[in-house]
Amino acid sequence: MPITTCIFDAYGTLFDVNAAAMQAAKEPAQADLAAVWPALARDWRMKQLQYTWLRAVAGRHCDFWQVTKDGLDWAMQAHGLTQDATRKRLLELYWELATFPEVPAMLAALKAKGMTTAILSNGSPDMLDAAVSSAGIGDLLDAVLSVDEVGVFKPHDRVYDLVLARFGCTRDAVLFVSSNGWDAAGASGYGFQTVWVNRAGEPVDRLYATPHHILSDLVKIPDFV
Ligand code: LAC
Repeated sequence: MPITTCIFDAYGTLFDVNAAAMQAAKEPAQADLAAVWPALARDWRMKQLQYTWLRAVAGRHCDFWQVTKDGLDWAMQAHGLTQDATRKRLLELYWELATFPEVPAMLAALKAKGMTTAILSNGSPDMLDAAVSSAGIGDLLDAVLSVDEVGVFKPHDRVYDLVLARFGCTRDAVLFVSSNGWDAAGASGYGFQTVWVNRAGEPVDRLYATPHHILSDLVKIPDFV
């Protein structure tokens, strides 16, 4: 079945989740953050994701904004950051994360090939709307799908079901692209064609399925359709 529908994870895939800490660390008021920002960003992201998995297993879903704040609070404490102003600034920047530079041209190339394009994300609708509009990529997306509709985080099958429900396509007509190896693996297990964007050169996750393709950025995604 040829690919008709290209679905993208949001955070880490289209939007650079490290951009908030990197940008805040350059600001004069954030000297403490400047000393630790790469480790802070890594731990913030890891805790945010761990909390999604734990809440999914426990059946205790919440808004992605809640786990984003909870993950930051853990990471700030771990790195000895105590200022409310730092917390406020980091959370503010999360609503206007930069995309990776190749994103607009890549999405435009997919649209030029007649593809349906969408985001499928753990993010809450208001977070995703803010990020999409701040990045100016709304015109290049046919839909922004949030797990909020199904009340469980990735990689639960009910999340990937949202794509079929929205577009009426078959699983094998979907190319799913994520920079999260576990998300690409989950989508492979579900029956999508998958690309893992492995910017950091990490090992493949040992799970029940593996990504079909591995790239180091998004530039060549239009060649897959
Ligand atoms: C998302 C997270 C997993 O956007 O990055 O769904």
